Amino acid sequence: MAYLLNLANYTVKTMVYVFFFISICVVLHIWLFTYVLNLADDVSSIFSIRKCLETNSKHIKHILIWTNFYYYHLIKDGKVILPSLNCSNSNCVFTKNKALFDEDYSRFDAILFNEDILNSKDRPLNRNQDQVYIFNTLESSQVVPACEVYNDGFFNLTFTYRLDSDIMWSYFVVRNRKGKIVAPSISVKWRTSSRPVVKKIKSVLAGKRKAAVWLVSDCEADSLRDEYLTRLQEHLFHFGLKIDVYGKCSHKRCPNDDCDKVIKKHYYFYMAFENSSAEDYVTEKVLYGYRNYAVPVVYGGANYSRFLPPSSYINAREMHPYNLAFAMYQAIKTPALYETYFKWTNLYTINADYKSDHPICNLCNTLHRNQIYSTKDKFRLWWNGRNGMKWCLSTEYWNETANINIDTRHILKLY
Ligand SMILES: *[C@@H]1O[C@H](CO)[C@@H](O)[C@H](O)[C@H]1NC(C)=O
Ligand SMILES: *[C@@H]1O[C@H](CO)[C@@H](O)[C@H](O)[C@H]1NC(C)=O
Ligand SMILES: *[C@@H]1O[C@H](CO)[C@@H](O)[C@H](O)[C@H]1NC(C)=O
Ligand SMILES: *[C@@H]1O[C@H](CO)[C@@H](O)[C@H](O)[C@H]1NC(C)=O
Ligand SMILES: *[C@@H]1O[C@H](CO)[C@@H](O)[C@H](O)[C@H]1NC(C)=O
Repeated sequence: MAYLLNLANYTVKTMVYVFFFISICVVLHIWLFTYVLNLADDVSSIFSIRKCLETNSKHIKHILIWTNFYYYHLIKDGKVILPSLNCSNSNCVFTKNKALFDEDYSRFDAILFNEDILNSKDRPLNRNQDQVYIFNTLESSQVVPACEVYNDGFFNLTFTYRLDSDIMWSYFVVRNRKGKIVAPSISVKWRTSSRPVVKKIKSVLAGKRKAAVWLVSDCEADSLRDEYLTRLQEHLFHFGLKIDVYGKCSHKRCPNDDCDKVIKKHYYFYMAFENSSAEDYVTEKVLYGYRNYAVPVVYGGANYSRFLPPSSYINAREMHPYNLAFAMYQAIKTPALYETYFKWTNLYTINADYKSDHPICNLCNTLHRNQIYSTKDKFRLWWNGRNGMKWCLSTEYWNETANINIDTRHILKLY
């Protein structure tokens, strides 16, 4: 207080002088402070960029997504892969940002291409020998064949549903009771259970009254499939059974759009017919059957013994439609027989729930192994298969019947 009173005794002139002096001091301080701060910022950012690049080259793999990636939601662009993937090693950064390294694509550790690349000349120009070009798709090779010659000798790693891919990405996994993945796999040693099916499942089975259900959205898939089903329907009719069809083509929707509930409650069999018959192409369709305790009747191009436990499904491809109709009739009439289709549940689980073994985690782990993967020189032959080059032709030139017994010698020469 006394100080303020003293201050009041000063003349106005002195006051102005003091105020001016203080102002200059304050401005000078602010300027100096921000300058030093900026400098510190610059120093630290230079330092952190360097540090970042150093660690990147050792620990983080940068993967450029060149085309689309349908599973983009599973990653976080520019960040290490999402924790929700549960990877043990997540030191991989996926990004669509082609400009990340000044548009120098050769500085990415890997480039991920999906099936769109097969018909596209839009490819990176400079290729680095340490770089891994990855081919990824979950589409059937019949629907997305590799036709152009520039696909041969292009990809270092294959990342598809095919069992002989470098890294497999299957639509579902079969685990044993310890949680270990046992299938799909080229060589599976299936075990069989002698124990009866548990009561809980038995009571679900006991409530079923309808023969078979088919959910279908592609009205014009392969013609043999529809032909087979038409004939199967005829034979089932003679046993007093039928297949109910739901989906876009039949214009009939599941009540409350809850197909799972309908299948579980009513149906003995689920028609898991694939819409194209490429090698190893078994999709999530079988899960509609398994998770709802309806036996899948499968139809496709795969060797199903590599995918599903024995006696857990019926393979229509191996049976005359009459024999299939009869087998379905017998199982429906004989509960003890029908139950045997569920003994696998004592030993295995079948679902699409990946744990820390998600295929994207496997890809990241593989890249961290820093191995050399020479490209597939005959990529088209591998992907399309021996008879698949015709898929590159318009369908006027071939149909499903032509799949069988085709003389492919001249086609092989095209590769
Ligand atoms: C199907 O796969 C099993 C197991 O790998 C094999 O033993 C069998 O020979 C295959 N069948 C055909 C027709 O390729
Ligand atoms: C076939 O089914 C798959 C998986 O259910 C789907 O992604 C694909 O679009 C279908 N293909 C055709 C030609 O309808
Ligand atoms: C990761 O684990 C959680 C909890 O086990 C699971 O709910 C989630 O589906 C898993 N994520 C993936 C992509 O499998
Ligand atoms: C990828 O394949 C090319 C061509 O075969 C090869 O030169 C390159 O070293 C391979 N890169 C890796 C990382 O395996
Ligand atoms: C497929 O092609 C063969 C021979 O060209 C023909 O006889 C047959 O009718 C065709 N089938 C269908 C379903 O179009």
